Amino acid sequence: MNLPQYYAVVPAAGVGKRMQADRPKQYLSLQGEVVLARTLKRLLQANIFTAIVVAISPEDPYWTELDISTHSQILTAAGGKERADSVLSALKTLENQVDNNDWILVHDAARPCITANDIHKLIATVSDDAIGGILALPSHDTLKQVEGGAIQQTLDRRKVWRALTPQMFRFGVLKQALEQTQGNPAITDEASAIELIGLTARIVEGRPDNLKITQPDDLRLAQFYLEQQ
Ligand code: CTP
Ligand code: MG
Repeated sequence: MNLPQYYAVVPAAGVGKRMQADRPKQYLSLQGEVVLARTLKRLLQANIFTAIVVAISPEDPYWTELDISTHSQILTAAGGKERADSVLSALKTLENQVDNNDWILVHDAARPCITANDIHKLIATVSDDAIGGILALPSHDTLKQVEGGAIQQTLDRRKVWRALTPQMFRFGVLKQALEQTQGNPAITDEASAIELIGLTARIVEGRPDNLKITQPDDLRLAQFYLEQQ
């Protein structure tokens, strides 16, 4: 049997509503370069991917303006209504060239501060697993479960982690999980689809500077992190 190959899938078909900018956040400029181009360059730097599939909205006028859009290792797929639809669309693009055991690393376009080190750490920790795993962060704050503005209870902090990306799964398992849970609003990342079909994903501690650009202040924070790196 061949050694498993590694592919990256980058959902980049969101509109960035919470960012309130004049264009989707993945096309905002960060230290003189567009966020999505930065993210893709970080993935290329990891030097592990056979190909990278970017899910782009069919209405997106910005993608083809980027120099990196013609890179020989980068393919595109049509983005969908929800993030999970965009990821599934990218998986279908790969269908004819991948093996069920090959690895898919799904990474948000809006996380440009990802390091090659964290990608390699995730791969080194998870690559002997039958299912996969994700980068995540332990919580430093005390966590409260809240309903209607009132605290119900304090959660055990050691048991609650913040999910980041990349999220790394075997192609066959991930495709099956996303197909079986399609349309379920509880699916906000790949791991939640895996959990919902009764499988278990591993957790690997990532760097806290791997933020997802979500609201206006995050752009300055991302710039700070990039300078520090
Ligand atoms: N994404 C996607 N297809 C969608 C929705 C989101 O590919 N239908 C991508 C986004 O482009 C982003 C990643 O999924 O890279 C994480 O989603 P999120 O941070 O929620 O981005 P947006 O949906 O664009 O932002 P918002 O929720 O504020 O509108
Ligand atoms: Mg969103």
